[in-house]
Order: sequence, then structure tokens, then C-alpha cells
Amino acid sequence: MSATENFNSKITIYVIVCWILAASGGLMFGYDIGISGGVTAMDDFLIEFFPKVHERKLHAKENNYCKYDNQYLQLFTSSLYLAAIFASFVASKVCTKFGRKPTILVASSFFLAGAALSAGAKKIWMLIVGRILLGMGVGFGNEAVPLFLSEIAPVKYRGAVNILFQLLVTVGILIANIVNYLTSMVHPYGWRISLGLAGVPACILFIGSIVITETPTSLIERGKDVAGKKILKQIRGVEDVDAEFEQIKFASDIASQVKHPFKELMKLSSMPQLIIAVMLQVFQQFTGINAIMFYSPVLFQTVGFKNNASLLSAVITGIVNVLSTLVSIVLVDKAGRRKLLLQACVQMFISQVIIGAILQSQLQTTGSLGKTSAIMVVVFVCAFVMAFAWSWGPLGWLIPSEIFPLETRTAGFAFAVSSNMFFTFLIAQVFLSMLCHMRAGIFFFFAAWILFMGFFALFLLPETKNVPIDVMLERVWKQHRIWRRFMVDADEGNKNSGANVA
Ligand code: BGC
Repeated sequence: MSATENFNSKITIYVIVCWILAASGGLMFGYDIGISGGVTAMDDFLIEFFPKVHERKLHAKENNYCKYDNQYLQLFTSSLYLAAIFASFVASKVCTKFGRKPTILVASSFFLAGAALSAGAKKIWMLIVGRILLGMGVGFGNEAVPLFLSEIAPVKYRGAVNILFQLLVTVGILIANIVNYLTSMVHPYGWRISLGLAGVPACILFIGSIVITETPTSLIERGKDVAGKKILKQIRGVEDVDAEFEQIKFASDIASQVKHPFKELMKLSSMPQLIIAVMLQVFQQFTGINAIMFYSPVLFQTVGFKNNASLLSAVITGIVNVLSTLVSIVLVDKAGRRKLLLQACVQMFISQVIIGAILQSQLQTTGSLGKTSAIMVVVFVCAFVMAFAWSWGPLGWLIPSEIFPLETRTAGFAFAVSSNMFFTFLIAQVFLSMLCHMRAGIFFFFAAWILFMGFFALFLLPETKNVPIDVMLERVWKQHRIWRRFMVDADEGNKNSGANVA
């Protein structure tokens, strides 16, 4: 073990402020995830933009599983994610060329514009363009914020600091659920308040992006060594930062030789990181989490709750989500990433199977569940959300932000963000149709994925806790039983070894 783990650092007030302000990018993302499900369940909104869906909802007793199946309605939710796929790649370039801080500023500006347009929408196209702007904001924010947090955090707290992003995602979802619960009682424009309040987290992030520092890594990578060292001293709260500075400098010298990060990413030695980053995000979505986050009010209506009770149940799952993310903050740098992921697979698998079994055996096309069964469904939805929140939720963002060497970091992370967005889009777009056609079977479908991802984590995911971000190649990938075979071209072009940099 090298001395590099013992970099000097103290936690200063300024650095805490930077963490929290940057993490408010998560608030923005979370608010958006949480708001659309509730809005699309509001009658006033449906009457104005989707009268046919509203009509069908009135005759809901005809078919429990299919009452909301409408491609346009789903497009409202999912258009944001399509825009974000594209935006994350552009953001990766902006992040490398101009830094993490300006990328965050751009994110908040897109988001502000999107919130204003969607809240004031008179026609469906305004609604969709508003969603696209929000999507651009999410693409830029989700690219820059987790990278910012992982780069600025002291190594021994990196997991916890990065998870602040996910914590604020969950807070954003919860606030959105509460807002929807309240605005659903404001007729006929409650939904406009819901969509407009997205401007609040965007404002926080906008101000935040002016106050926060740039990361030393990004400054040094762009040749601003003196400024980089100065910021490093400021955020570590100590004068002697030479060892850490040298390590970043070493990584950045190597990174500067790579002119085409996306091409570099296609090399054999980049495959392990790329596969892990993308698959964590794919798996994250195939847990089925967003079926619950977007559509829990709809889902709870499906099992027989009335409108308000459904929104209230969504608030309960939201609280469980926030509290369980705190567990992850405490455990991630102690227990490590792998244990959390594996434990959660077991809990999520059991929960999905039980929910599926209850619906399969008791929810017919018409009629509703008995009270006890409906409560059981809510309980197991909570057990599922709990496990997700301390594992695949936060770690889906943390691990991809810490495993790439500097030369491919923003490009590699863009693949993670865009995979998240693509599969979130897919689930948002097809979930209601799948519910309509597969009925309870959809929960078994998610359970099968959870089993698969458990094996993936068991055999292919290396542990990254407490390893400095710029020496992952030597310490993690070259040591891994399977992935080390991919490292044959890792030293070509003097790739980052970092082991010599103590
Ligand atoms: C995921 C989102 C999800 C949220 C739930 C995030 O990590 O990327 O898709 O809705 O967690 O808390």
C-alpha cells in the first residue's frame, strides 16, 4: 500500500458548502423524476392535454392494468430523458474543455428555461419543448455533478460525498411528491405550480455554480497548475498538498497525451471500466425503480387506493427513499460498494416476487385488492425502495465517476449518464404498456433482472472503496482476476500507472 492514501486534509466549511451546492444538481434531477408521475395523474392536466386518457380513466373499472396506457402521455414523461442522452455527450466535451463548474452553470440555465416553459404551456408542443430543455439540464448536470463531487472529495470520504448527489435526488423526488399531493387539490392549474416549482432547485444550482470552486483536477488538466494547487490547499484546509498534487499532475500529464478520449475508450484496456459503468446504469433501471418513482400514484390507484391516498403512498415511499440513502452515506466507505449491492439484490428480489405474487393471485382485470393485500403491496414497495436506495441508486452514480482514469473520465462517464437516461426513457415509455400487457408478470420480469445483476456484481465488480481515484488502474483493474486480462494495452502510450507516484 502506498502513502498516497494518507493525503493531508481537513474538512473546511467552504468545501462542505461546495459539496452541498453542487449536489443540488441532484435536487433538480430528483424533482423532475418525482413530479411527472403525479402530474400525469391529475385530472385537470389530462383534460387540458390528454382528453382521451382522461376519458379512459373515467371508465377505469373496465381494465385495471390498462387505464393509463397512452403513448403520448408516456412521451411527456420520457422526452426529457431522450434529450438528456444527447446532452450528456455534449456536456462531456464542455466538462473537459471548460471545466466542471461552467458545465453546472449551463445545466441550471437550461433547467430554468425548461421549468418556465412547461409551467406556462398552452399547447402540447410547449410542454414537450419544456421537457426537452429540462432534459438538456439533466444531461449537463448529471454529467458534471457526480464527477465534481468525486474529484473534490478526500479519498476516505469519496463515497459519502458523492452520495450527497443521490441524497438530493431522493429529497427532490420526495419534495415533488409532496408538492403534487398539495397541488392536486388546487383546481384547475395545480399542475402548473408543480411544473413551475422546478425552477427552485434550478435557481439553487445556478447560484451554487457561481459560488463553488473548480476542481483541482480539472484546473490542472487544463494546464492551470498554480491555480489547481491553490484550490487544492483551500479545499483540503492544509498547506502541504504536494503528494496529492503530484498524483493529479501525473494523471493529467498522461491524460494530455490522449487527444481522442472516445477513441481511447474503445481500447481493450478501457473495456472493463466502460462495461461496469454502463451495466451499473442499465441494471439500476432494470431493478424497476422508476416504474415505482414515476408511476407509484398510478400503481397505487391500480391496486385500489383513491386518488389522494395514492399520492400519499407515493410520499411514504419517498420518505423511505431519503432515509435509506442516509444509510448508504454511512456505510459506503466502511462496508464498501460490493456488500451493499449484493445485500440489496436479495432484498429487492424478494420484494418484487412478493408484489408480483399478490397482484397475480388477487388483482383481476376489474375490481380492486382487499385492504390487507393493498397494504402488503405498499410495504413491499417500501422494502424494495429501501434496498435500492442504499445500493444501486447511489452506487450507479458513484462507481462510474471513480473508475475511469482522467483521460477517459468525462467521456466514460457520459456513457454512464446516457445509458441511465436511455434506460430511464425506455422504462418511462413502455412501463404502462408493459403493465397493460404483462400485468403482474412485469414484477417477475424485474425480479429476473435483479437475480442476473446480483451475479454480475458478485463476479465482475471490483471493490473501489478507499482507492485514490487516480490510481485505480494499478490497484484495481490490473489486480482483478478477470479484468486484468484486458489490461494488455494499458501501458501503451504511458498510460496512468500512478503506483509510482507516492
Ligand atoms: C436513478 C433514478 C431513480 C432514483 C430514485 C437514481 O439513482 O438514476 O432513475 O429514479 O435514483 O431515487
